[in-house]
Amino acid sequence: MTPTKPVYRAAWITGASTGIGRALALELAERGTNVAISARHADQLDAVTAEAQGKPGRIIALPLDVTDQAAVQLAAGATEQAIGPLDLVVANAGISVPMAGTLVDAKKFRTLFNVNVMGVVHVLEAVVPSFVQRRAGHLAVVSSVAGYRGLPTAAPYCASKAALIALCESLKVELDAAGVKIQVVNPGFVRTPLTEKNAFRMPFLLEPDDAARRLYAGLVSDRFEVTFPKRFTRLVKLMSLLPYPVYFALMRRLVAKRTPVHAEER
Ligand SMILES: NC(=O)c1ccc[n+]([C@@H]2O[C@H](COP(=O)([O-])OP(=O)(O)OC[C@H]3O[C@@H](n4cnc5c(N)ncnc54)[C@H](OP(=O)(O)O)[C@@H]3O)[C@@H](O)[C@H]2O)c1
Repeated sequence: MTPTKPVYRAAWITGASTGIGRALALELAERGTNVAISARHADQLDAVTAEAQGKPGRIIALPLDVTDQAAVQLAAGATEQAIGPLDLVVANAGISVPMAGTLVDAKKFRTLFNVNVMGVVHVLEAVVPSFVQRRAGHLAVVSSVAGYRGLPTAAPYCASKAALIALCESLKVELDAAGVKIQVVNPGFVRTPLTEKNAFRMPFLLEPDDAARRLYAGLVSDRFEVTFPKRFTRLVKLMSLLPYPVYFALMRRLVAKRTPVHAEER
């Protein structure tokens, strides 16, 4: 599979040392895109870079912490210098920390919001001006179906992911008018380091490579929301439309059964 003209010439993905981001970077390189990948662990990024040897597109590693606003600005510039003007940026870096609802912990909220929300904001701040100037470019923000509605034991994670969905909705109309494409990506369960410790059955669990192929198909579509696997995410969306009494009754049953209800709660 080597298209003569890749859809994307240059892409930047944060959180691409493992999991969904790593698989997407390799998928894009396979399709001829040059990809800059970022995360904190340089050794893991280098391993992904090595895996891309021989693919039509190359992968370069740009280690950074997305909570460091200045580092993200610098990396955006370095990325463009290394692989040319970006036409795709995937703000994917994210973490999860569980929290009992009876033990509200500001530190956990701060940590989650710094990475999951402010990390994305830093990336957008760094790349949107040049996209607007060029009236071109494509932004994809990785949120989660956990952002559709609050789930027990996961208040910081759900709140951070709900914030990302609202953020993308807010930006959409103005970025459209400025010639910039924005999408929000809401995956279901994917087997990654983030979910690997989950001791419960994860329905419709996808392998990262499969998730990356579905994500790529979503990126090249005109849809604002990219979500997969559809059979699961449609159910979760339906659940999010339930009236509060019905929704909370359902959540109470899940809590009573001690069934973890959130894929990324560990
Ligand atoms: N797996 C799922 O079922 C699922 C479902 C819905 C949504 N998601 C979302 O998908 C995204 C990717 O998650 P994943 O499942 O692929 O998990 P993962 O394999 O743990 O990947 C997370 C990535 O983010 C990086 N990262 C974490 N903190 C960072 C920071 N402060 N600065 C820069 N990079 C950072 C990690 O690398 P370093 O540790 O080296 O920094 C890693 O590359 C996340 O936003 C997650 O919320 C996942």
